Amino acid sequence: MTMWVPSLAEFSGSRYRAIASAIEAAIQAGTLLPGERLPPQRRLADALGVTIGTVTRGYAEAERNGWVSARVGSGTYVKSQDQNNAFSLTFPADETAGVIDLSLSLPPPHPLRQTLLSEALVALSQSGAALARGVTYQQAQGRHEHREVLARWLNTLGMPLMADELLITQGGQHGLSLALSTLLRPGELLAADALTYPGAISAAQQGHLKLVGIGQDSEGMRMDLLEAQCARQPPRAIYLTPEQNNPTGACLSESRRERLVTLARRYDIWLIEDGVQYLPAEQRGTPLYRLAPERTLFVFSTAKVLAGGLRIGVLRAPKSLHERLATGLRAQSWMVPPLMVDVVCHWINQPAAEKLLTWQTQELAERQQLAAEWLKDFSLSGRSHSSNVWLALPEGSRAVELCERLLQRGVKVSSAEPFCVGSTPAPQAIRLCVGAAADRSELIQALSIVAACLTERPLAPVTL
Ligand SMILES: Cc1ncc(COP(=O)(O)O)c(C=O)c1O
Repeated sequence: MTMWVPSLAEFSGSRYRAIASAIEAAIQAGTLLPGERLPPQRRLADALGVTIGTVTRGYAEAERNGWVSARVGSGTYVKSQDQNNAFSLTFPADETAGVIDLSLSLPPPHPLRQTLLSEALVALSQSGAALARGVTYQQAQGRHEHREVLARWLNTLGMPLMADELLITQGGQHGLSLALSTLLRPGELLAADALTYPGAISAAQQGHLKLVGIGQDSEGMRMDLLEAQCARQPPRAIYLTPEQNNPTGACLSESRRERLVTLARRYDIWLIEDGVQYLPAEQRGTPLYRLAPERTLFVFSTAKVLAGGLRIGVLRAPKSLHERLATGLRAQSWMVPPLMVDVVCHWINQPAAEKLLTWQTQELAERQQLAAEWLKDFSLSGRSHSSNVWLALPEGSRAVELCERLLQRGVKVSSAEPFCVGSTPAPQAIRLCVGAAADRSELIQALSIVAACLTERPLAPVTL
C-alpha cells in the first residue's frame, strides 16, 4: 500500500496548517477513510521535506478540528464522520433499514405505549379544559397543576420533588441545554466525565463552552482528578450522570458524592445532575439535589420511562434560578406545548402505566441477563436494570473496525468515540443498547452475531 503524501502546494498558509487542511480535504474526498492510520510522522516529514515538528503540529491541528484522533503509542487515526458530530444519529428509517440497531438508548418497545397514547388523545379530545389549554399560551415554567401531577408521579418513582421546584421542559436534552445556557456564558468551563453522554458534549459545543473531561473509574468521576482541576481552574459547572454513566454504567459512589458536594461548595460550582437514564429507586444512590439543593439542577424526562416521542421532561432547580430559567425557556420556545403535558399527565395516571413500567424493569433485567450469557467470555459492565451494556474489547481488537464489521453483518452498535470529551483517547469498547431490540429473539440474534465477531481474529490492515 502506498503511503498517503499530500501535495502541500495546493494549500495556503504555514506548512503545518497546510498539512491539517490536506488531511481534512483527503477525508472529505474519501482518500483517507475512517479508521485509517495517518502515516508515521517521521516518514511523512521526510516525504514532504519538512521537519517532524511541522508534521506533529499539522496532526495536532487536524485533531483540534475534529478530523483525526491520536492514540498514545499507536498513531493518529481518521475519525468516522459520525464521530465528528458527537451527536449525529441515524434512525431505523434512514440508512439502517434492515439492521438491528442497538446504537440508540431506548426503552424496550411494548404495544401498551401506543395504547396509552391513543387513550390519552381520545380522553383529551373530549375534555373542554384540555382543549382550551391546548390552544393558548401559558407561563413558561408550565402550569402549577401539571407540575403537581408530575411531582406526585416522580415521588412514586422514588424521586422526592415538589411542584414548585420544577420547570417543565421539552425533554431531557432541552432541560440540559437550558441549564447550561442559563448557568454558563460562552467560553466558561464545564467539567464532565471524560466519557459522557454525547448530547451533553453537543449542548456544550452549541453554547461555545469549554469542556474538560475528568477521568473516571468503576466508582464514577475521580475526585482526586476533579480536585486537581479545581486547583488549576475551577469549572463553573459539573455535569454528571451519578446513577449510571452513559456509556460505561459506572455509578458514583456515596463517598464520592459527599466529596463532590464539598468541592462544589468550596469552589462555588453548579452541579447538573442528569437522571434521564432511569433505574428503579432501590438501585439509586442519594440524589445530588438532596445533598446540595442550593447548587444542583436535576434533569429528568419521560423518554426512558414512557416514550421518547412525547418530549416532556422536568428541570429541578433552586428557586433562586427559576426566573432566569423561565426567561431562557421563553426565549427558546415560549413554553412547552400544554397538550403534550396533558398527554403525559393522563398517561401516568392510568393503572396501565405502572404495569408497563413494572414490565419494562423486569424485561431490561432479563435482557441484561441474556447479554451476560451470550457474552460471558468478555468483559461487560453496566447496571442490572439498565438499557445499556458496556463491553471492553479483548486485547488486539479495535472498536471502530468491529463496529464496521458488525454493521456489515446487520448489527449497529456504538464505539466509545462519540462519548469522548475533547481529545480523551477512546477506549477499545462498545456500547450495546439491549432495550432497543424489538424483542428478545431479535436481541439474541444480535448478541450471537456480536459474540461471533468478537471471537474472529480480524485481519490487520497492511500499511507501510
Ligand atoms: C444521559 C441522558 N441524558 C439526556 C438524554 C436526552 O433525553 P430526552 O430524550 O428526554 O431529551 C439522554 C437520551 O438518551 C441520555 O441518555
